Amino acid sequence: MKFFIDTANLEQIKEAQALGVLDGVTTNPSLMAKEGITGKDNILKHYVAICNIVDGDVSAEVIATDFEGMVREGEALADLHPQIVVKLPMIADGIKACKYFTDKGIRVNMTLVFSAGQALLAAKAGATYVSPFIGRLDDISTDGLNLITEIRLIYDNYGYETEILAASVRHTMHIIDCAKLGADVMTGPLSAIMGLLKHPLTDIGLAQFLADYKKGN
Ligand code: G3P
Repeated sequence: MKFFIDTANLEQIKEAQALGVLDGVTTNPSLMAKEGITGKDNILKHYVAICNIVDGDVSAEVIATDFEGMVREGEALADLHPQIVVKLPMIADGIKACKYFTDKGIRVNMTLVFSAGQALLAAKAGATYVSPFIGRLDDISTDGLNLITEIRLIYDNYGYETEILAASVRHTMHIIDCAKLGADVMTGPLSAIMGLLKHPLTDIGLAQFLADYKKGN
C-alpha cells in the first residue's frame, strides 16, 4: 500500500520523506488555509515546493466547480510539475473534466467520494485515483471502511485500474484496516503514520537489550 501524507505543512512532509516510506502528498484548500497559504500565486508556489521535497505524486485541487473553469485551473496545475495530479470534485462537471484530462494523459484524483456509485463513475471516467473519505463517513455514523470494501469489490470485478486512495484517514487503525481491505493508497496525517511504529514491547525489549549489553561492557 502506498503512503501519502495529507497536509500542506512542509516540515511534516520533510519528516515523512526522511522516514523513507512516503509515496506522495495530498492537499486541499482547507489544508492550504491551515498553513496560512492564501492567494493563487502563493498556492501554486507551495505546490512546487512540495513537489521538490517528495518523489511521488502530489494532488493539487481545483477551486472551480464548472467544466471550463476546472479545465483552465487543472491545466495550469498540471503544467507546474510532472508530479502534479489534478484533484477534481465528485460532481457532474468534475467527471466531465476527469474524462477530458485522462484523454489528454493528465492524471486525476477524484475527491469528496462518499459512495460506491461515485467511485464507479470515477473509474469509468479514467481517474488515476479515487478518494473515498472514510473519516467523514465515520463522523456521520456510517462505516467508512465498508466503502473501501465495496469499491475494492467493484473495481476487482471489472479490472478497473483506478487506485483506491483511502482519504480522511484520521488515525493509525484506519491505516491498518485500509491495508487489510486492499486500499491501494492511504493518505493521512503524520501522527497516524508514526503511530504504526509504537509498541510498548518494542520499547521494553530495546531497553532490556541495551541494559544487558552494558552489563558485559
Ligand atoms: O484527504 C482528505 C482529507 O483532507 C479530509 O480529511 O480529516 O478533513 O476529513 P478530514
